[in-house]
Amino acid sequence: MKQMLKVALILSFVLGLFFALNVFAGEAEYVGASKCKMCHKSEAKGNQFGKWEASKHAKAFQTLATDEAKAVAKKAGVSGDPQQAKECLVCHTSNGHNAGAPVAASFKVEEGVGCEACHGAGSLYKSMKTMKAITAGTQDIAAVGFIKANKETCLACHNEKSPTYKPFNYEERWAEIQHNRPK
Ligand code: HEC
Ligand code: HEC
Ligand code: HEC
Ligand code: HEC
Repeated sequence: MKQMLKVALILSFVLGLFFALNVFAGEAEYVGASKCKMCHKSEAKGNQFGKWEASKHAKAFQTLATDEAKAVAKKAGVSGDPQQAKECLVCHTSNGHNAGAPVAASFKVEEGVGCEACHGAGSLYKSMKTMKAITAGTQDIAAVGFIKANKETCLACHNEKSPTYKPFNYEERWAEIQHNRPK
């Protein structure tokens, strides 16, 4: 009897651990573009970090502090500081469309529209092993929160809900921010 109780206890402990880890695995954290930099800044591999840093996406949060932004907010009926308004942050930050998700200490809202806005929160996929498996096509990407970015990804923000919306042509706009690896 005692033996059985022991087995049951161990079993429930192991199961508990399993579920705890599983819940953990489901919650990817936003880590910020600085955590992608070390592996994605070499010219030979396409310098994704440098290209992103030079793009307007990296300025999207700063833009909300301008007089132009204040005028846009007023016209849209949004009161207060645009940098504090969720109506604006939703498209001007990496995690705006996913505001309830956990955020690591390294994440800075100031980065604007960072890597993770298009590729998904990075804590579970940013290891070398997982990154290589993703590129090799052997990793279940949903399980680690990775997103294969495409036109649909852009349309989450480049749409008519934007108070300054300009018609969006994917091919032309992608060409402006493309960061492909050299062939
Ligand atoms: C430890 C190094 C490392 C870190 C950190 C890292 N990556 Fe990667 N990543 C790689 C490697 C290696 C590849 C495989 C392709 C290559 O060799 O360039 C890759 C591939 C990718 C790809 C292409 C996947 C595909 O579909 O083929 C994307 C997108 C990507 N990384 C985004 C990110 C983002 C976003 C971050 C930060 C959250 C990040 N990476 C952090 C090493 C890293
Ligand atoms: C999370 C929201 C978001 C997503 C997703 C997004 N963008 Fe943007 N994009 C913005 C914001 C906000 C700006 C304006 C930044 C600024 O001017 O401060 C912008 C600006 C741009 C610009 C510069 C436009 C100009 O007038 O100079 C280009 C090009 C662009 N985006 C292309 C893309 C492409 C291509 C994709 C998809 C691969 C994409 N964006 C996905 C929010 C987003
Ligand atoms: C649905 C997504 C979305 C929302 C919500 C949003 N923006 Fe933007 N914002 C964008 C995109 C995308 C751009 C880039 C313009 C373009 O090329 O389409 C942009 C650009 C801007 C610009 C730069 C001007 C320009 O024409 O490029 C300002 C200023 C701005 N937004 C202010 C705001 C303010 C203030 C709010 C909140 C009241 C807000 N935005 C809400 C997506 C959004
Ligand atoms: C505005 C959205 C957006 C942002 C921001 C963004 N990417 Fe991408 N990225 C894409 C899209 C879309 C593709 C896939 C394009 C294609 O091949 O069709 C891509 C492709 C890649 C690839 C694969 C390139 C190849 O040739 O295989 C890597 C690596 C990558 N991104 C890393 C990053 C890193 C690191 C950052 C931040 C420093 C970043 N991306 C920021 C949208 C984005």
